[in-house]
Amino acid sequence: MIAKIEQLLKEVESLKASTTEEIEALRIKYLSKKGEVSQLMKELRDVPNELKKEVGMKLNELKDMAQEKIAILKAQNETSDSSADGLDLTRTSYPIALGTRHPITLVKNEIIEIFSNLGFSIAEGPEIEDDWHVFSALNFAADHPARDMQDTFFIESKPDIVLRTHTSSVQTRVMDNSKPPIRIICPGRVYRNEAISYRAHCFFHQLEALYIDKDVSFADLKQVLLHFAQQMFGEDTKIRLRPSYFPFTEPSAEMDISCNICGGKGCPFCKNTGWVEILGCGMVDPNVLESNGIDSNVYSGYALGMGIERITNLKYQVSDLRLFSENDTRFLKEFESAH
Ligand code: DAH
Repeated sequence: MIAKIEQLLKEVESLKASTTEEIEALRIKYLSKKGEVSQLMKELRDVPNELKKEVGMKLNELKDMAQEKIAILKAQNETSDSSADGLDLTRTSYPIALGTRHPITLVKNEIIEIFSNLGFSIAEGPEIEDDWHVFSALNFAADHPARDMQDTFFIESKPDIVLRTHTSSVQTRVMDNSKPPIRIICPGRVYRNEAISYRAHCFFHQLEALYIDKDVSFADLKQVLLHFAQQMFGEDTKIRLRPSYFPFTEPSAEMDISCNICGGKGCPFCKNTGWVEILGCGMVDPNVLESNGIDSNVYSGYALGMGIERITNLKYQVSDLRLFSENDTRFLKEFESAH
């Protein structure tokens, strides 16, 4: 009997099977109720007592080996079975991690929504612009010191070509191509030659609004500004206009909103003033209308421009501008719920 078991051990060790059916047939042959192992178990009864222990151990060894071998064959068969050219087409897909919208995009879309509800449509222009659209057509004289306000990137071989420093350049593009009434917003990326730090970057985003029609007044501008501020920062938000200077608007103003963190009481964020600055605005300078072929005796208009990073910063208290362009998913994921 020992010899028979030895022979079966060898047989089992070298078993081969490549389909589920073949493996099942082997299982039946060796391990089923009527299989080789069970048969031998029965025969064990007739083995003389003094040999029972030795034969029993050998038989157990055979049973274990058969079980193990069949399990191995099954596992091999499962991994190779469903593959088609190395692809497992039956495997369920992994859950796919969805990305989140960038906070700048979220805020930009929110601003667009507010203005499009007022009838503004979106206009876009090139980021690589000529001097005319960025400066000259906006009333920056060639030697005007106001050009120093913005540290411009010039294209070395073409001194007339610049990376736009503000989205106001799109105003002039639109005036080139259309007649009043004009009611547009221009979101986009702008560039300035600034050293990168937590509070400045060499590129950022702006959104410009322009409205030109007959009888547009500063009161219209003020109303739109108040509406925007309250939609963006809450119904209780107050606005304040401070006289300012921009070459392309006259009169010009900068707008502050009541600090949305302390509600205007004063806190470190608003440097205890209760107010924070958010945008520049004014009535379109008649020179700008005329440079762009619009009769300033018939038409008037207002313009405003804001930094989208600035608005995002106020809304979400992002204290380091660099976070916006580092693509750190830990930062970006914080805005998942803002969708
Ligand atoms: N272009 C200005 C800047 O980048 C922002 C600005 C100020 C835009 C006043 C305007 C405006 O349309 O009326 O600093």
